[in-house]
Amino acid sequence: MNLYSRIVPLVKPIPATRQAAKRHYGTHPYFTRRPYNVVREYILHYSKEGDRVMDPFGGSGVTAIEAFIENRIGIHNDINPLANFIAQGIVNLHKGLISEYKNALQCIEQRCMQTLSQISQLDEKKLQAFKRKVKLPENAILPKTSDVGRYYELFSLRQLLSLAVLKDAIEKLPNNYAQKGMFLAWSATLSKLNKTFLSAEGRAESRGGSSIFSIYRYKVAKKPIELPAWEMFYERAVNILEAKEEIDKAVELKKRTGGWSGEFQIHCKDIEELSRQHKGQIDYIFTDPPYGGHISYLDLSTLWNVWLGLSPDARTREKELIVGGELNLSEKQYIDRLSNSIRACVSMLKKDRWLSVVFQHWNASYFEAILSSATESGAELKAAISQIGDPIWSMHKKKNTNSVLAGELILTFYKSGHAGTVVKDKKLDVAEIVKEILDAMREDHIYGEYLFNKLIIEAWKRSAIGSLNISKTDFTSMLENFGWHYDDRNHYWVRKEHRQRELFPMEE
Ligand SMILES: C[S@@+](CC[C@H](N)C(=O)[O-])C[C@H]1O[C@@H](n2cnc3c(N)ncnc32)[C@H](O)[C@@H]1O
Repeated sequence: MNLYSRIVPLVKPIPATRQAAKRHYGTHPYFTRRPYNVVREYILHYSKEGDRVMDPFGGSGVTAIEAFIENRIGIHNDINPLANFIAQGIVNLHKGLISEYKNALQCIEQRCMQTLSQISQLDEKKLQAFKRKVKLPENAILPKTSDVGRYYELFSLRQLLSLAVLKDAIEKLPNNYAQKGMFLAWSATLSKLNKTFLSAEGRAESRGGSSIFSIYRYKVAKKPIELPAWEMFYERAVNILEAKEEIDKAVELKKRTGGWSGEFQIHCKDIEELSRQHKGQIDYIFTDPPYGGHISYLDLSTLWNVWLGLSPDARTREKELIVGGELNLSEKQYIDRLSNSIRACVSMLKKDRWLSVVFQHWNASYFEAILSSATESGAELKAAISQIGDPIWSMHKKKNTNSVLAGELILTFYKSGHAGTVVKDKKLDVAEIVKEILDAMREDHIYGEYLFNKLIIEAWKRSAIGSLNISKTDFTSMLENFGWHYDDRNHYWVRKEHRQRELFPMEE
């Protein structure tokens, strides 16, 4: 038995710390960012210092950055250039001096604050004249689901010009890490200065967010608001300064307590290509593949990729793991690629190492693809934990429907190297399993996500996952038939007798 085979899998959910507690992850928005403390616990548990820890679907970089801070070699990969821009941008913050960052911000202020204030006063004719003086990105075509057809239509002319003036001032800074930090702040400002920004009801105009992150498409606000460009940028630049101080402190602390040897590597590849270069080299993988067609990452990142000059080519777009999107990729393609991705993960791991995959979807065949391909390629399922209550989960839940499934399952596999044979089409009585799970519940309430996750794992254990085909409506009515009621205040299901007691306590 080696060190890794003796690891006892984590079997309890880890309460998520609010993302804001780590300012560096809050410097730039991205989709479905995993809570850093959960990721870190997994990394610390399943790997040791000096190990190569990878996330092949790395997004904004939480896995590889946590690994890097925790004295591992963090290997980040994502097909989306925006994701890599953010991840590398955050890591770079440990380089250069804070005084250089502060000087850079001062320099930008001197160069463009006055111009920005002038732009805010100009009438349309003068704005048009000003347009000739600045460098704008290409007027790219937007995805078909967008409210508008072309890139420039996502902005008012004032916003376009302000962003261009800011970018120009940053480009003129000396080429060092402070300049890169300011670019990260500029890119984060882009999220606020465009017409997809929707103000939150009843709060200050600047509070709110882009429809890109809430409804996952380019919806343009009916009455777009123009937030003040300099203030928006300045706030984001100050976030960068604070994030730098935070990262510097974390690294300093490591150096003082035993030394710091973290490394960070970054790749922008399709996972299958990545796996050809890293066969048998990785000690731990923690990853979060795209869940079907929920979010078209590349389409939705157009806002940033175009202006950063990072737009992916057609060949890359074709490789995105997604159902639908602009290229209308099929579900079959998605399932095949999801299976291949899991095989790729297992093949990149050394023998006797661990793989954690975060996933959630109503479609059981996606889980089937993950579980079967891992088993067939030599990795055994050792733990399946529902992470109910993460910030992302709560955000989805606020949309308040009993069919929103948002509590992820973390599936952890051990690579023994022995390929297993999968039997998956045995007969399954779904109602019976659901009843068994409900009857075993000690509490009077249950999260739908938790129950669905349990059902998936039970079906897998009983060699029947291939027979599990249940729609959201079936699931909901089954629970109702068993005497459970959906509590939309708390987002969970409650036993009917319990609800009766809550409503009519005097009758007891
Ligand atoms: C669910 S997100 C990961 C989010 C990440 N866990 C975080 O904390 O920010 C999935 C990522 O997979 C990327 N992706 C999609 N298809 C890919 C492929 N074929 N190869 C590599 N990455 C891909 C997307 O760009 C997206 O950033």
